[in-house]
Amino acid sequence: MPKQFKVNNPATGELIAEVKVNSEEEIKQSLKNGHDSFEKWSKINAHERSRLLRNWSHIIQENKEQIAELMTLENGKPLKESLGEVDYATSYIDWYAEEAKRIYGRTIPAATETKRIVISKQPIGLVAAITPWNFPAAMMTRKAAPALAAGCTFIVKPAEDTPLTTIKLIELAHEVGIPTDVVQYVIGDGKEVGDLFTNSEYVRKITFTGSTPVGKSLIKNSADTVKHVTMELGGHAPLIIAEDADLEFAVSQTIISKFRNAGQTCVCTNRIIVHENVVEEFSKKLTEKVKKLKVGNGLEKDTQIGPIINEKGYDKIVSQIHDALDKGAEALVGNQYNANKEQGYFFVYPTVLKNVNLNMMIMQEETFGPVAPIISFKEIDEAIEIANSTPYGLAAYFFTNDYRTGTYLHDHLDFGIVGWNDGAPSAAHVPFGGLKESGLGREGGTEGIEPYLETKYLSIGNV
Ligand code: SIN
Repeated sequence: MPKQFKVNNPATGELIAEVKVNSEEEIKQSLKNGHDSFEKWSKINAHERSRLLRNWSHIIQENKEQIAELMTLENGKPLKESLGEVDYATSYIDWYAEEAKRIYGRTIPAATETKRIVISKQPIGLVAAITPWNFPAAMMTRKAAPALAAGCTFIVKPAEDTPLTTIKLIELAHEVGIPTDVVQYVIGDGKEVGDLFTNSEYVRKITFTGSTPVGKSLIKNSADTVKHVTMELGGHAPLIIAEDADLEFAVSQTIISKFRNAGQTCVCTNRIIVHENVVEEFSKKLTEKVKKLKVGNGLEKDTQIGPIINEKGYDKIVSQIHDALDKGAEALVGNQYNANKEQGYFFVYPTVLKNVNLNMMIMQEETFGPVAPIISFKEIDEAIEIANSTPYGLAAYFFTNDYRTGTYLHDHLDFGIVGWNDGAPSAAHVPFGGLKESGLGREGGTEGIEPYLETKYLSIGNV
């Protein structure tokens, strides 16, 4: 492993910081510390853990502007989105500060008069998290908050591209009195740290947000020590526009769903499936709106679309656009770039593609970029077939005001998150997660604390 990671601003390529990489010994020591501090932390009463979480949320909000600026510097997203992400991040802490006080057990009527049966919940132990660069604050708190609320200790490895926001948030947790061994971060290469996490006998749970291939290998590597796993993996979200949809509204929601964070989210729309009778009008309206999106440095006030995180991400997006064009698609807007490999910045202008078909790479692989491919359908079952024709099952969206069409689509779409006339369904109080190869388990909502808890059954005899 190199001794330091360089963190660059993806909008300019400039070096922002160099972050020390932890040695194998340091990471093993941190895992031991996390394990050793579990006994004490798990015994602290839930109201006190809740109070500490509330204080953590509060101090993050006090530092909101500074954190958002740091996030934009390392991630590139527009400042407005970074400010929104700080709120999104603290909403998880706020939610689980309350849930900490609601970890209930139950009693079960026994089958004899001489027994009592009690079911209780207890925290799992040390949780190791690996978090992505696209939401460096919220994807960490979505894991840390329920873990700490449940009484688990927590260690996180942030993405190499964006460690600074995470470091800042963990430092603030320590500032409000959450013990340093209870919530920790380590810096290192994904594969190497992932192996240390999965091989460690101290870690009881791995929670990961990132690509499906990495998730699969973490699941495999967790098998030897039978760790619990929560996996929030890739997506390829369909967005269906029914013939009766309110097109004006559907276009505005498509913009939100497709172009948030320059299309670099797991739940971003990746296929727009439009009824043949409205496809021309929808495409025209979408293109008009997309033309107005302002691309630039996220720190500039009007920017709506920031840079692509790195060269690898950029190359993938460009090759998907070119592949689609080569196979007969037409770019209604976009297919423009501002990139400099030497300096290290990569912008893709928002692109709308029409005449797309299922043989194009963009219809099969996750794009993670600001490209909106449009395909048309005749019958609703055809739309469902196109939507489900992917190994992914994270998010799906559809637009219709017909309740029969809506309930039919809901029943037949194989996705964990479904937005009906809603392009932005994510929130702290709801269960986020995917079907099929998009993951295992749920984060957020009342469901999101369960994966950090074990169920214990007590049978009392001779009463
Ligand atoms: C993700 O892209 O992984 C998360 C997006 C969200 O929480 O809405």
